Amino acid sequence: MSTEQNVNDRRSVAWVTGAGKGIGRAVSLELARRGWCVCASARSIDDLERLANEAQYLSGQILPFPLDITDREECDRVFRRISDQAGLPELAILNAGTYVRFAAAEFTATSFERQIAINVLGTVNCLEPVMRAMIAARSGRLGVVSSVTAYRGLPLASAYGASKAALSNMCEALRPELERFGVLISVIHPGFVRTPLTDKNDFPMPFIIEAETAAKRIVDGLERRNFEIAFPRGFVFLLKLARLLPDPIYFWLTRRLIS
Ligand SMILES: NC(=O)c1ccc[n+]([C@@H]2O[C@H](COP(=O)([O-])OP(=O)(O)OC[C@H]3O[C@@H](n4cnc5c(N)ncnc54)[C@H](OP(=O)(O)O)[C@@H]3O)[C@@H](O)[C@H]2O)c1
Repeated sequence: MSTEQNVNDRRSVAWVTGAGKGIGRAVSLELARRGWCVCASARSIDDLERLANEAQYLSGQILPFPLDITDREECDRVFRRISDQAGLPELAILNAGTYVRFAAAEFTATSFERQIAINVLGTVNCLEPVMRAMIAARSGRLGVVSSVTAYRGLPLASAYGASKAALSNMCEALRPELERFGVLISVIHPGFVRTPLTDKNDFPMPFIIEAETAAKRIVDGLERRNFEIAFPRGFVFLLKLARLLPDPIYFWLTRRLIS
């Protein structure tokens, strides 16, 4: 389906990044089921075409807008195309991200930089044009996908955790500022979700949920205008409790994860 076809201006427009697989794909389908016109971005055009076809019989629609979020100029260009062809997004879910585990002995600035480039700077590359347009329009909703790893440092996730903590802190800083312009920003803290990203993991993933369940939690939370959307509840409760632990007890626990 080309982006020129089937654009229905009467539908509210959403922009979802990382829409080709996993959580972003499930969120796009959930939004289309609820009647949204979803502008779906990822690098793989094949994934986006398949997604658009799958949405054909839903009440909304999905339009592919391929994009590499690490390219700032491309982000600006794609955002302009979305606004021209589908309309200014009322909702943007900045979800594209990556996760690479590495031990302290394998730590390199290059591998750290790669995760920051995609998870933090890539998200910010998309945030800039959409946030600017929403501020000018005095309305809009933004959802940034972070992770429960943002709560406290976890072994083997020094780069990933740092990248997600940066996003969570950024959202917390922006929330009151954006409210003054009628723009709402939410931070999304998923626990383990079954996706191509976690399919690579060879360790137990407690409380893991399906991407479709995660998508419903995300869209419901955004509709309720919550600041933090965190799930699954049991895992989030335990990790928030861990934030209150004194360092010696926390490190006693995290040492056991790598023993
Ligand atoms: N799964 C979990 O358990 C979990 C838990 C907490 C947080 N999260 C977060 O949730 C988000 C989605 O995770 P997921 O598990 O659904 O991952 P996934 O299955 O690997 O899907 C990631 C999506 O992001 C896209 N993407 C990656 N790099 C990109 C880039 N440079 N430019 C544009 N698109 C890019 C990928 O498509 P292309 O490769 O085609 O570009 C793909 O569509 C991530 O931010 C992740 O950190 C996941």
